[in-house]
Amino acid sequence: MSGNIKTVGVAGSGLIGSGWAARCLAHGYDVIAQDPNPAAEAALRATIERVRPLLAKAYGESAKKPGALRFTTDLAALAEADFIQECAPEREDLKIELFGSLSEATGKDTIISSSTSRFVPSLLQTKCRFPERFLVGHPFHPVYLMPLVEVVAGPDTTSSIVDATMDFYRAIGMQPLLLKREIEGFIGNRLQAALWKEAVHCFATGVAGTKEVDDALVHSIGMRWAFMGTFMTYHLAGGPTGMRGFVKHFPKAIADAAVGTSPEELGARLIEECERQAGSRTMAEIEEKRDALLADLLLVFKRHGVGAGQTSL
Ligand SMILES: NC(=O)c1ccc[n+]([C@@H]2O[C@H](COP(=O)([O-])OP(=O)(O)OC[C@H]3O[C@@H](n4cnc5c(N)ncnc54)[C@H](O)[C@@H]3O)[C@@H](O)[C@H]2O)c1
Repeated sequence: MSGNIKTVGVAGSGLIGSGWAARCLAHGYDVIAQDPNPAAEAALRATIERVRPLLAKAYGESAKKPGALRFTTDLAALAEADFIQECAPEREDLKIELFGSLSEATGKDTIISSSTSRFVPSLLQTKCRFPERFLVGHPFHPVYLMPLVEVVAGPDTTSSIVDATMDFYRAIGMQPLLLKREIEGFIGNRLQAALWKEAVHCFATGVAGTKEVDDALVHSIGMRWAFMGTFMTYHLAGGPTGMRGFVKHFPKAIADAAVGTSPEELGARLIEECERQAGSRTMAEIEEKRDALLADLLLVFKRHGVGAGQTSL
């Protein structure tokens, strides 16, 4: 259990709300799941039942004493929750109104976090009473298995609320990532959007079919991305001197990316930050770990008969 949080409220029990409910229950939290549509209850309970054995496997001990679930169509029932995760449809007007109502229905210490995929807190909090307890916690589908939650504070969110939220997300087995400032779409969806644009371009201009574009990902860069992001990948691509070598050997890649700054300044910042990110690990150690992970991943994919596991090893 994290701090004073014992009961979690979920506002909107569709795809994402059900995912939050399943994750919180599996970590021993009681959940009050709300949805104006009474039919949402059956789908919510079906999801929780379906994933229960999987979560017991994934989370072990913590999933052995699941919390209790209550479903309601009444928003006011969420007043009993210590932490509310909002998961209503992605409509600006609807969310602004909902946060107004939620903040009226709850005490000023109840943390309210939005699952929005795009909207920034300063917009969503427009009608929120006590906006200092309001922020964004953007998850990834399926929430009960994907660890990342992007945390975005609004202009009024207090640091103690941010800390309590980060602690709570850690307590339910997540990897909270605090953005330094608000930005629409946050990080994950901005990266996905850039990739989507290029993937559709390759398809629409006849370079390849959708399967081939997907294959280009799952048989190569997608495998590495499971444990190594873009910056460490390019750090390794730079040879023995890492990003320093990359900046030297691929000046066009730096020049094309330098928006609002000079290539020299961007290159210097990238070198400094990537060297800090690599820490005390030598290039050889990073490479060795990469190769061991890729070999293990190939075996997992082979066991499931998917992606890169379909080639003969
Ligand atoms: N689908 C994804 O992959 C994904 C990933 C991350 C975040 N999100 C975000 O999560 C939120 C929910 O998305 P979803 O995919 O679960 O949508 P969904 O349509 O599956 O579920 C939304 C639920 O909200 C209910 N609802 C409607 N009006 C409501 C209200 N006024 N108050 C409370 N509930 C209301 C609906 O009845 C429905 O059950 C959105 O903000 C979305 O952007 C979605």
